[in-house]
Order: sequence, then structure tokens, then C-alpha cells
Amino acid sequence: MEKILTLGIETSCDETAAAVLRDGREILSNVISTQIPLHQKFGGVVPELASRKHILNIMPVVDEAIRKAGVELSQINQIAVTHGPGLVGALLVGVAAAKTLAFALKVPLVAVNHLEGHIFANFLSAPELEPPFLALVVSGGHTALIKMKTYNEFELLGQTRDDAAGEAFDKIARVMNLPYPGGPEIDRLAKTGNPDAIDFPRPKVADFDFSFSGLKSSVLNYLNSASMRGEEINNADVAASFQKAVVDSLIEKTLDAAESFGLSQIVLAGGVAANSALEKNLREACERRGLKFFYPTKILCTDNAAMIACRGYYQSLAKDFAPLTLNAVPNLNFKGAIQ
Ligand code: KG4
Ligand code: ZN
Repeated sequence: MEKILTLGIETSCDETAAAVLRDGREILSNVISTQIPLHQKFGGVVPELASRKHILNIMPVVDEAIRKAGVELSQINQIAVTHGPGLVGALLVGVAAAKTLAFALKVPLVAVNHLEGHIFANFLSAPELEPPFLALVVSGGHTALIKMKTYNEFELLGQTRDDAAGEAFDKIARVMNLPYPGGPEIDRLAKTGNPDAIDFPRPKVADFDFSFSGLKSSVLNYLNSASMRGEEINNADVAASFQKAVVDSLIEKTLDAAESFGLSQIVLAGGVAANSALEKNLREACERRGLKFFYPTKILCTDNAAMIACRGYYQSLAKDFAPLTLNAVPNLNFKGAIQ
């Protein structure tokens, strides 16, 4: 049977990305042009600058993805694009490019949910992975536990009631004067700190929901009171203790959900999946309980278009195509989730 080539496009935040996938899981190219240096001096993503940079980058990035894949644009069978959630101006650049290409090439368009895309990054790293499984999605904007029943059926089991895990990492890093994005900086700093040095509170939330704002306030209070008393702060200990509190609460809820729903495969997804303590501790906790643990390679954890093409491929198998009137949906959540 002829192989399907999917072009994936991702512009939801601060990475302009394009990738070509052969059938569901074979990456032919995965090009990511990051805007991190552009936003770093502002301490976070500046939406207007992000949109402008995406406009400049999108076609060169698509061209590079096609060239690196060793194919011609005319050979592309379908185009998958992130249509939400994300920054509206940023999303619109990818959506407009994808619609234009789909129209010009006369190929189908697939609208991909960015969060679902993060889960699908695991199919690219683990060819043997098949649903059903439990996914912990931890990104800059979302923290959620999802039961994936089949390739196209998701059930939201719980999510954060306030800050996302990545957002908490970024905010704490910012007050500690670490560069944007803060997650990797805290991760690096924590390696030399003592995770048991400071006993930050573990959030207590019912069901399978999460909360990180109380923990964030408690770290901020700790830093403020120490500096008011003129005490020296051990940044590595703060980073390690804060990270441990986040990781502990993520792992506890994940294991509870796996047990309650009888799921034996655990999948980690989203930018915070790149966190070394989360990956190590969750892997070990899964091993202790006889659960199978899956985790994307680092480059597939953070935003990329290969995961979008992968999600799009499985949607295309279910004939889930989008019209050329497709629009960006900045607050898109998992299907069935209450906003
Ligand atoms: O999934 P992602 O690339 O973008 C969104 O969809 O939000 O996630 C970005 C988030 C940022 O908050 C960043 O600080 C966090 O992932 N992150 C990390 C690490 N690498 C990225 N957080 C903790 N430890 C890391 N190593
Ligand atoms: Zn993301």
C-alpha cells in the first residue's frame, strides 16, 4: 500500500515548526525554529513579537522540512496544523499557512489539538505503544490526566484548577532571576541542591485535579521572608525542594488514577516531561508498581510539528478532516473538558 506523507505545522507559542511524517510513526524531518532568544530579554513570550516572527519563519521552516525529508511539496498527501490551544496571533499564522498549502496542493487539511499532539509524541518515540493508556500532560499552559481509550477517544480525568506545572516552574524561576524559560533552569539548578532542604507544602486537591498556586505562593513567601531577614538563600536547595513538591504531587495523582481506572501503561507528555526528576521518579514509581512507562525523547517533549503530524495522521484514518474555513481556537481544551 502506498505510504501517506503528512506535513505537520505548529506555531502555537514560541516555536515555528514543520515536519514530514511517513505514515503514522516515521519522522522524515522535524524542523524547529525557536524564538526563545527573542523573548528572553522580556522574561516571557511577547505575543505580538511571536506572531511577527512566525510570519517571517513559517515558509522557510516548511521549505526546510520538505527539503530535509527528501521529498517534493507535490508529494505531500495531507496537512496537519495546530489550531489550538495557544496564542491566537501565533496560531493564526500556522493555520493560514496550512490552509493556503492545502488549497494550493488540493490535499486534505487536519485540525490538531496541541495537547493531543503532545500525547502523540510518545507514538514517535515508542513504536510498540498502543492505547489504552493513562497520559500525564504537563506543559506551560496545561496540566491534565487523560485516559486514552483508542487513538481518537480521550477522557479528561482531571486537570489543574489554577496554574499549570510549567507555569509554576517559569514563575518561580523568574523571581529567582533565572532566564526564560524557567523550567530547564530550575531542573539544572536542582541537580546540585537538596530536595529535602525545605518542606514546601504538597497541594491537596480532590479527585484527579491538581493545584500549584498555593505551592508557588509558599515558595515566594519563603524567598521574600529570607531576603527581608537578610538571610542568604541557597537557590539550588529552593529549586530542588520546589521541584520535588511539584513532581511528588504529579506522581501521586498519576498513580492513583492508574489504579482507579485499571490502566497499566503510563505516558508522560508536554514540555515539563523534559524535567529530569519527573522522568526519573515517575519511571521508578511505575517500575515499583509493575506499570509500563513511556516518555518521548527530549526534542519531542517540547513543542514540535512531528507530534502534530502524528496526531493528524491518526485523525485522517478516522476521516476527521477540517474545512478551509478553519479558524484558530486559543482556549481549546481536551474534547469534553469543561472550560
Ligand atoms: O509543551 P511546551 O513546550 O509548550 C506548551 O505547550 O506550553 O512546554 C513549555 C513548558 C515551559 O513552561 C517550560 O519551562 C517547561 O515546559 N519545561 C520544563 C523543562 N523543559 C521545559 N519544565 C521543567 N523542567 C524542564 N526540564
Ligand atoms: Zn506545548
